[in-house]
Amino acid sequence: MLKWRELYEECVNCHKCGLGDNRTNMVFGDGNPRGKIMFIGEAPGADEDKTGLPFVGRAGQLLTKALESIGLYRKDDYYICNICKCRPENNRTPYGHEEEACIPYLRNQVALVRPKIIVCLGATAMNCILGKDWRITRDRGKWVERKGFYMTATFHPSAVLRDENKKAVFWEDLKNIKAKYEENFQVKNVDS
Ligand code: URA
Repeated sequence: MLKWRELYEECVNCHKCGLGDNRTNMVFGDGNPRGKIMFIGEAPGADEDKTGLPFVGRAGQLLTKALESIGLYRKDDYYICNICKCRPENNRTPYGHEEEACIPYLRNQVALVRPKIIVCLGATAMNCILGKDWRITRDRGKWVERKGFYMTATFHPSAVLRDENKKAVFWEDLKNIKAKYEENFQVKNVDS
């Protein structure tokens, strides 16, 4: 397992798949590197490629604001990154070989952050992490415990932007994630 600096260096110099040849910036991750919650998306879009930061475009802003409204802040409560660290052209879904090339970096990030809760954002991350048999509409909001992590999936915020009808369940899922976090891991101030 590499330490943060070494891992970042590997990713920034990576050309294991073709995505590395066309990137403006490698998009490593953001948030609290000791966050108890880790959100995992698919791959950077245009805004992320431009800035080098994950989830900063329209979908990212929707997610960030929704989380803030329930008291979860990027700098304090969670770490956020993607399966693929470089942008696929025209925002296409990453190919299997691109995910496979990049997933060891994600595993290393998980090992460094040591989150308690892992949230897959959208079908791509969910199928990659939770299994090919998971279906986003059917299985979002379910919880599984694996290797000491509580794991779940919800809609990708860009799917919520495209389809208003997904908003309510997306919101429910985020509130359940917050509840799981509070229930299990947040240190509460108890007046004695
Ligand atoms: N979509 C993703 O899956 N990740 C990002 O960082 C931005 C958009």
